[in-house]
Amino acid sequence: MIETLTPPLLGEELYKKVKNDFIGLNKKYIIADGNKTRRVYLDSTASTLMMGPAFRTAERFLENYSNTHSEMHFGAKICTEAYNWVHKKVLHFVKADPNEFTCFFTGSGVTSGINRMARVFSQVRPSSNIVLISIMEHHSNDLPHRKHGGQVIHIPLDTYESNLGCVNIELLEKYLKQYKDKISYVSITGISNVTGILNPVNQIASLAHDYGTNIIVDAAQMAAHAPIKMSGFKDLTKEIDSLIFSGHKTYAPGSPGTVIARKSILSNTEPEEVGGGMVDRVYENSYVVKSTFPDREEAGTPNILGSIILGASLEVLDRIGMDYILKKDLMMTNELLIKMTSISSVVIYGDTDTVNCPRAASISFNIIGMDHGLVAAILNDYYNIAVRNECFCAHPYVEQMLQQTHSDQIKKIKHIDNPWHIEPWMGMVRVSLGLYNTREDLDYFSTALNDIVQKKNWFKKQYTIDTYGNYIHKEFKFTGEEYFNMPMILDEELNR
Ligand code: ALA
Repeated sequence: MIETLTPPLLGEELYKKVKNDFIGLNKKYIIADGNKTRRVYLDSTASTLMMGPAFRTAERFLENYSNTHSEMHFGAKICTEAYNWVHKKVLHFVKADPNEFTCFFTGSGVTSGINRMARVFSQVRPSSNIVLISIMEHHSNDLPHRKHGGQVIHIPLDTYESNLGCVNIELLEKYLKQYKDKISYVSITGISNVTGILNPVNQIASLAHDYGTNIIVDAAQMAAHAPIKMSGFKDLTKEIDSLIFSGHKTYAPGSPGTVIARKSILSNTEPEEVGGGMVDRVYENSYVVKSTFPDREEAGTPNILGSIILGASLEVLDRIGMDYILKKDLMMTNELLIKMTSISSVVIYGDTDTVNCPRAASISFNIIGMDHGLVAAILNDYYNIAVRNECFCAHPYVEQMLQQTHSDQIKKIKHIDNPWHIEPWMGMVRVSLGLYNTREDLDYFSTALNDIVQKKNWFKKQYTIDTYGNYIHKEFKFTGEEYFNMPMILDEELNR
């Protein structure tokens, strides 16, 4: 029996304790000037760092580790209970009524789950074949619908002083009216992975339901940055029919992609994956699929350890409070935007009026006269700042926004007959925030940007560009093996 000696920390107090407890936060690398400095991690939109308490919970879990398909021994009982607890935790985290909704794990990000749900939803209204998504979608919330859903229509965005904002609700309604019975379903991101712009997903759900269709929400970014409410409204039209998020973006690397969906919708189709665990009986010539959730959707041995890490991390986020986290994220993102807009030659993409268009965690930008790859390389090599660059798996959105700075190049490229070709100017730099980032990180990043703008020409001379368009430092060489050499680490471990 575990005795609780002190009441658990909650809210801001817990946030203050946890924000310094992430693995890799104090990682040091040698940079181009020869100094060994602390990495400033500003790439959480790609993947977040591992939350310390989640990692330690997983270590303790591993002492009991065994397969959830075994039943009678102690370890199997402990693992099955813990694994079931995580499913309940997920439903609670997204406020999905367990009587109506189930959750299951698949893949390692949202891609597998969205593919699955595109196939499921395409069978809900089989005579309708239009899927409405927005132009700001990540490819994982676009291509699965093209492949399995039917004809995808990209809803345009709000425009304010020619800057792109969130999904244009009036245009969405126009399309819903125009194509009414032909619409199979709507699928929209909660927060853009490029600009951090938030979409009003429950308002969009309400519209979709008013026009007799269903809605999927891609919560890859939303899960770590904003509260989610799938059900529990007085107005039932606001409910979300299915929502998918990634554990690796919610401070739980190694954890699975997570799908929450209405059981009534999933029951309509046979599960995509078949194998052990999802059947009641198998005969030589037939089999009987389980009617219980999530079992029927989770064929084979699941990612048990990853789901424990995920459950622990979601519990911590819940205890801090997602309302609190969103407030903090909006504030930090706004402060960063203000700092960045004050630097000459820095162009920020998308609407920067955060009162009109709130943003959480991600900002994409370019420095006029410098390719995104060069800026990202300098930030890494000279400042030890980790950011992502290129098109962030959102080509249509990025191309639309690049019109702001590269319209001449875009016009020319349309005539080139090699559609796969990527020019070094095609893309942006993205800075993104996690729970662990501090005001000092923001100051350090803005000072670095300022420096780069001031010494643009000097920096350019330090690099060459290879045939793939990558910027390579002429003298500074980095080898990953100096920091992480698997055989050597194993030698050390084995000789302990
Ligand atoms: N989807 C991830 C990103 O936006 C990988 O960086």
